[in-house]
Amino acid sequence: MSDRYAVIGNPIGHSKSPLIHAAFARQTGQDIVYEALLAPLDGFVQAVDALRANGGKGANVTVPFKQEAFNLAVHLSERAKLAQAVNTLIFRADGIHGDNTDGAGLLRDIEVNLAYPLAGKRILLLGAGGAARGVIMPLLAAHPASLTIANRTTSRAHDLALQFGHWGEVSACDYSALDDLPFDVIINATSSSLQNDLPPVPDSIFSGTGLVYDMMYGKEPTLFLCHAAQNGAPCVADGLGMLVEQAAESFYLWRGVRPDTAPVIAQLRSL
Ligand code: ATR
Repeated sequence: MSDRYAVIGNPIGHSKSPLIHAAFARQTGQDIVYEALLAPLDGFVQAVDALRANGGKGANVTVPFKQEAFNLAVHLSERAKLAQAVNTLIFRADGIHGDNTDGAGLLRDIEVNLAYPLAGKRILLLGAGGAARGVIMPLLAAHPASLTIANRTTSRAHDLALQFGHWGEVSACDYSALDDLPFDVIINATSSSLQNDLPPVPDSIFSGTGLVYDMMYGKEPTLFLCHAAQNGAPCVADGLGMLVEQAAESFYLWRGVRPDTAPVIAQLRSL
């Protein structure tokens, strides 16, 4: 029988993860089945239990269950502890292991796929929710010159800067304070693109950048990326590559094989 895996979320119908993992499995000759599981909002733990009881070897976890997955895992990786969220579960004999591959996925997309090394760069991270928290440590591990966190609710940005300040040059501010501050890289980790909205950053911040990245993606470029390009950003990228890279990192944790992501990203772009 094939080993079973799933992505668990609510909603889940839109998930590209089954397609991505099926492509990885074909490419690497791994005999797995990977499906999308819709869990009721109060039924995440039951969904995990059912998967484990039916031959499941692991799962990806998406909105809104990443914190619950963090609480459920008995063994947590360092990066999951720092993110306080889990997107990858590994079912082992000694219990459920939890990891977080989102930050590694972002880093790989930026530094390898987009060929933009972050060492020495001034990074602006927009947002201070779960998505932002999950990528701060991996960003700092790339040795940027500085990391500035800006958020609509400024206190949340300050809390993150305090927490992560031990690991690098991290500061926080509100959007209005960004005028005239120079940045090499701007990363949108807010969920504003989901509402087809923009974080209220000054238009002036985009023109001096080397890369503007939106962790969201869609069929069309997000409003944020269109706005950045219209205001002089020379290079913009959405989060599709990050999605495929975080999946590849999960696949590696489960199967010990690293898939080639480039053809899978190209396949998704062509859909
Ligand atoms: P996620 O897990 O996706 O990060 P979250 O923890 O709810 O979700 O955080 C959402 C983030 O997007 C927050 O930084 C939020 O800003 P606030 O902390 O001020 O709420 C930000 N956000 C959501 N919608 C936004 C909008 N329309 N404009 C600006 N920021 C927005």
